[in-house]
Amino acid sequence: MKVDNICCIGAGYVGGPTMAVIALKCPLIKVTVVDLNQQRIEAWNSDDLDQLPVYEPGLKEVVAEARGRNLFFSTEVDKAIEEAQIIFMAVNTPTKTYGEGKGFAADLTFVEKCARQIAAVSTTDKIVVEKSTLPVRTAEKIKEVLSSNSNEVNFEVLSNPEFLAEGTAIEDLFKSDRVLIGGDDTPSGQAAVAALVSLYAEWIPKEKILTTNVWSSELSKLASNAMLAQRISSINSLSALCEKTGANINEVSKAIGMDHRIGPKFLKASVGFGGSCFQKDILNLVYLCRHYGLDKVAEYWHQVVKINDYQKNRFAAKIIEGLNGTVNQKKVTLLGWAFKKDTNDSRESAAIYVADILLEEGAEVHVYDPMVKEDRIRQDLTTLWEARNDSKHEVAAKLKRCVVHVDYRTALENSFAVAILTEWDEFKSYDWNVIAKKMMQPAKVFDGRNVIKTNKAINQYFIGR
Ligand code: UDX
Ligand code: UDX
Repeated sequence: MKVDNICCIGAGYVGGPTMAVIALKCPLIKVTVVDLNQQRIEAWNSDDLDQLPVYEPGLKEVVAEARGRNLFFSTEVDKAIEEAQIIFMAVNTPTKTYGEGKGFAADLTFVEKCARQIAAVSTTDKIVVEKSTLPVRTAEKIKEVLSSNSNEVNFEVLSNPEFLAEGTAIEDLFKSDRVLIGGDDTPSGQAAVAALVSLYAEWIPKEKILTTNVWSSELSKLASNAMLAQRISSINSLSALCEKTGANINEVSKAIGMDHRIGPKFLKASVGFGGSCFQKDILNLVYLCRHYGLDKVAEYWHQVVKINDYQKNRFAAKIIEGLNGTVNQKKVTLLGWAFKKDTNDSRESAAIYVADILLEEGAEVHVYDPMVKEDRIRQDLTTLWEARNDSKHEVAAKLKRCVVHVDYRTALENSFAVAILTEWDEFKSYDWNVIAKKMMQPAKVFDGRNVIKTNKAINQYFIGR
């Protein structure tokens, strides 16, 4: 099949950057990214590239080059589906908040809706690509929806999970460790795989493009994220032991990571991992294992999430303990809200949970993040409290005690304690001698990312030291 027109449903953190890079690298292919959210599409089409809805280093440059040439952002979903030979699905698949599998399974509502729409609109054969992270055997369900809602058209469903990490998405897309494509072992399935391989082969070396069956591909995505998260929970669990024994987690991480069989990455102790994927994907894996009666396997992976929760709670408790057991009516400053540096994304960020605990304890929480905007921060907290069924009155009262700053200096003034929740580079360059003088005495810094240097002017508390 000659491919000259592709589209992607979902212009989010995954769909936007991925399609922008495909458009850049495949100038002869028309790439249309569609989304139901008109505001988001308008932002992608904004003349001012600082208004793009996703912040990623290098993204602006890619969009500047490809947009209007062969990259388009639109809300005309039907038209894009009809014209495309390959349709990527990058809609969100949150953890279910209702019914069977609540709190664990992935909510496939949007995915199924997309499949139905594709079936209803298509008049020519299509390759449908799962980009969203999905439970194993979802492709089968998508195929069933597609084929039972459309008679004349042939659909091939491929799994092509995304491995990009936020903050380095463009770099990861340019130089992927591997591109994984899962397809059916039938002639038409293999032809679809070949069509997708040829797209990526424009810039990814062939030996890095791995083809498998659909289920291996779907499971590999969940397993990769689970293994990465497991390393963080392992090191975080050891950080608690370090604090009791006098060992230093940075030294322990370094020593462990120098074993080439283990390697140094993803061994950085922290206040806990966040992001839209790790927790969701592990809970999904836990659900799948339970579904197949593998309770012991489910429990093993569930522990990774439990340790992460433990770490966030432990960090908040450390702040409270460091302030003589009470934060009531005390100003506490949080530096960083994003779930990691170099992104404006705060989904599942540890900051949300630490702020929640401090606000519950009566603190005045002041937040500064170089990238995350005030309305996002307020929305993150409101969503958490509404999900917990807090009353409107409680939500409003707590929001009143949460102040967001655009200047870190005002955020720190007269603060009893500072907690570092994201490893933004700028925090390392602050003059802590000056800051200490502006804070309530004794000035205390709780470094949830182990990023600032030791400094006698302040009382410092680190993770795992
Ligand atoms: C999402 C999933 O969360 C993740 O599991 C998967 O791996 C990739 O897709 P992300 O791109 O970060 O990740 O999600 P998000 O930024 O929420 O973007 C999804 C977009 O899909 C939103 O802009 C939403 O408006 C859009 N959407 C959703 C549709 O256009 N149609 C729908 O029916 C549902
Ligand atoms: C992750 C996967 O890395 C990526 O392959 C997948 O496609 C999506 O999920 P992402 O969530 O964007 O990417 O970021 P990642 O760099 O993996 O960080 C996740 C969280 O773990 C962040 O909160 C980060 O701060 C934390 N982390 C990471 C640590 O606490 N310690 C580490 O050593 C590494």
